[in-house]
Amino acid sequence: MIQPKIKMKVVGSDRDVGEVSNVIADPVTKSLSHIVVCTDDGGQRVVPIDQVADVSEGVVLRCSAVTVSGYPLLCRDDYTTVHQQEVAGLEARLDVDPGHTLLPVPEGDRDIPRRGFFTKFTIAINAVLAIPLAYPVLKFLIHPMYAPYSNQWVKLASTNQFSDADAPRSYRFKKTIKEGYLERTFDKSHWAMKASPGTLESVYQGKDIEFRDKSGEVYWVNRRNVPYVVFSGKCPHLGCGYKWRSTKKYSMAFLCPCHLSIYDIAGGVLTGPAPRALDVLPTRVTPGGDIEMIDVEFKAGRADRVRVI
Ligand code: FES
Repeated sequence: MIQPKIKMKVVGSDRDVGEVSNVIADPVTKSLSHIVVCTDDGGQRVVPIDQVADVSEGVVLRCSAVTVSGYPLLCRDDYTTVHQQEVAGLEARLDVDPGHTLLPVPEGDRDIPRRGFFTKFTIAINAVLAIPLAYPVLKFLIHPMYAPYSNQWVKLASTNQFSDADAPRSYRFKKTIKEGYLERTFDKSHWAMKASPGTLESVYQGKDIEFRDKSGEVYWVNRRNVPYVVFSGKCPHLGCGYKWRSTKKYSMAFLCPCHLSIYDIAGGVLTGPAPRALDVLPTRVTPGGDIEMIDVEFKAGRADRVRVI
């Protein structure tokens, strides 16, 4: 039996061609089918065993060096080792050093890149098909985050409840909000008053108040000649509720008990940590005398007004 050894010199019919780097076994017959010749140019050529004429000092081939250079290069991905295929005792029987005998990978298991492509292609097709199914669910879940603010008008009080000017009162109303797919209703309150001309001037300081949406579009303008004013019930410092009451220093003022911010009748800061005046809300008076507002909320703790609801 012809039994080439690893690292044996390989000689063609005309000249040296390289040395044996591996042998390839036939998995069915369990005998050698090829030798792998590492040629002088660094390539590894798969040479059929029947081209081996003799094995003594080295491997002598029947073919020339040019013919060897025409045999296919070894594609390592097309072969496994005997160890990987667990063919016990094969290398011992072939008298080959362990780890140097290769077995061809079956045709059906080759071409991994192509199979990888088809796997990715299948995933992509499935993803495309899933979009119409997933879209309504995703839209339903994330819609509240991107939904425009509600500019719904809510009745808070009536003009006939105000006989005196500069006598603010707190009014409750029901607020319903949606959080994802949950809806909850709770009580809120704001302050409303009929403002005297002096107070109105302090609130508006000579100009109408514009309210803008996220895109910067004006969605409402409070006219400075409308004497009914609504203040948000939340203190602009950190959002606590506040009262209209007398204090040591001021006969009447809006007092926030949380950190003792005090505001005058026009909402201006008299003392305390509040970073801005009380928030005036979009307000209108209907022909029937209802005082309506849009329940806007601004971020607490900052001097400018950034709408959050
Ligand atoms: S929350 Fe009103 S003063 Fe701090």
